[in-house]
Amino acid sequence: MNVLVIGSGGREHALCWKLAASETLGTLYCAPGNAGIASVAELVALDVKDHDAVIRFAREKDIGLVVVGPEQPLVDGLADALKQANILCFGPSRYAAQLEGSKGFTKDLCKRHNIPTAAYERFSDAEAAKAYIRQQGAPIVVKADGLAAGKGVVVAMTLDEALGAIDMIFGGQFGAAGAEVVVEEFLEGEEASFFVLTDGKTAVPLATAQDHKRVGDGDTGPNTGGMGAYSPAPVMTDALVERTLREIVEPTIKALAEEGHPYVGVLYAGLMITKDGPKLIEYNCRFGDPECQVLMMRMKSDLLPVLVAAARGALQPDSVQWKDEVALTVVMAAEGYPGEPRKGTVINGLEEAGAVGGVVVFHAGTKAQDGRIVANGGRVLNVTALGTTVAEAQARAYAAIDKLDWPEGFCRRDIGWRAIAREQQKA
Ligand code: AMP
Ligand code: GLY
Repeated sequence: MNVLVIGSGGREHALCWKLAASETLGTLYCAPGNAGIASVAELVALDVKDHDAVIRFAREKDIGLVVVGPEQPLVDGLADALKQANILCFGPSRYAAQLEGSKGFTKDLCKRHNIPTAAYERFSDAEAAKAYIRQQGAPIVVKADGLAAGKGVVVAMTLDEALGAIDMIFGGQFGAAGAEVVVEEFLEGEEASFFVLTDGKTAVPLATAQDHKRVGDGDTGPNTGGMGAYSPAPVMTDALVERTLREIVEPTIKALAEEGHPYVGVLYAGLMITKDGPKLIEYNCRFGDPECQVLMMRMKSDLLPVLVAAARGALQPDSVQWKDEVALTVVMAAEGYPGEPRKGTVINGLEEAGAVGGVVVFHAGTKAQDGRIVANGGRVLNVTALGTTVAEAQARAYAAIDKLDWPEGFCRRDIGWRAIAREQQKA
């Protein structure tokens, strides 16, 4: 079967790397891809906003499955357009992708189905939102309703901060995504991510993974898309997985199916593990990036038949097996990230880094230029390693990073620290 992957990040490199090993794969295409993906797939310069162009390409190349990596094309309805054209697609419809695309949509769904989440109100008027905030007091959380590239959430520890967030969001910085806000209760606990594959009826939990959102060591500094991740995540015990499935994920999948919009794809739940159990912080309608990289390293099963089964509505409960080993990934970012990253700097030593035992270097924002690999984004490389322990995987990832010659890049030096501390406690 020929497959087209949509996207250009480290997540898509990991998906392509895993799909390339499939026994049933014909030709693998990726649009637009990056310099690393080019080693496992044929890159295609498609404009993914042009649904007709994607459909034409899929027909021309006899594509049996389209796998959509990022959220924006899903929120824009690419899966719907492909379905109408009778092309199999792994990824939710525009309606179902509202789980990520509209925080208000998700909160209302949770309320209707008693899914545990932070108490909240929706507002399209700044004064009403401010009155509510004054009444509730701080700490409190203010969120732009729509997609805001991870920048639309303010966890306000003071009243002034919360009121300022209202002005910022309604100030137009996020365009249509900020036409409405959700104001919600501040939740206390440890955060965890949880992923399932679903065909709209059956949910197959994936291995657990944990990312590191802050840019600096010790989880300090501004939020990013994620500076590293590891799998499994010890915070998600079997009992918590069970409870999250029963109380949060399964009722959501059932609700969408009942509304006539079965969810097909990866459902990613951002959770707060509170003293009263897991509560939903947010949903994403895609694999986490860089969580996907560690999941693909640990997946034993052939990925392609599982994605095809999900897209066809025929997913089997026990269809995914995992390696016992731990995987850990460290993000190398370009100077300036998460602000304006420096582009065009040359990266050397990639081959040496990839030759370290148990290591795969996934590319995120790279491109090939005059026979060299140059940085072309904020998050640029994901140096990913397997190991028997988190400490071993971490040591391998950093050994590989030390082989890279890229002075304009940086990374955190403590990815996995919580899990390693837990390992040391046990030993
Ligand atoms: P989100 O984009 O909704 O995931 O929010 C970004 C980050 O803000 C989350 O990863 C949490 O760290 C934090 N956050 C969001 N909602 C809450 C909440 N209700 N209570 C505490 N922290 C939150
Ligand atoms: N790593 C967090 C995300 O993909 O949203």
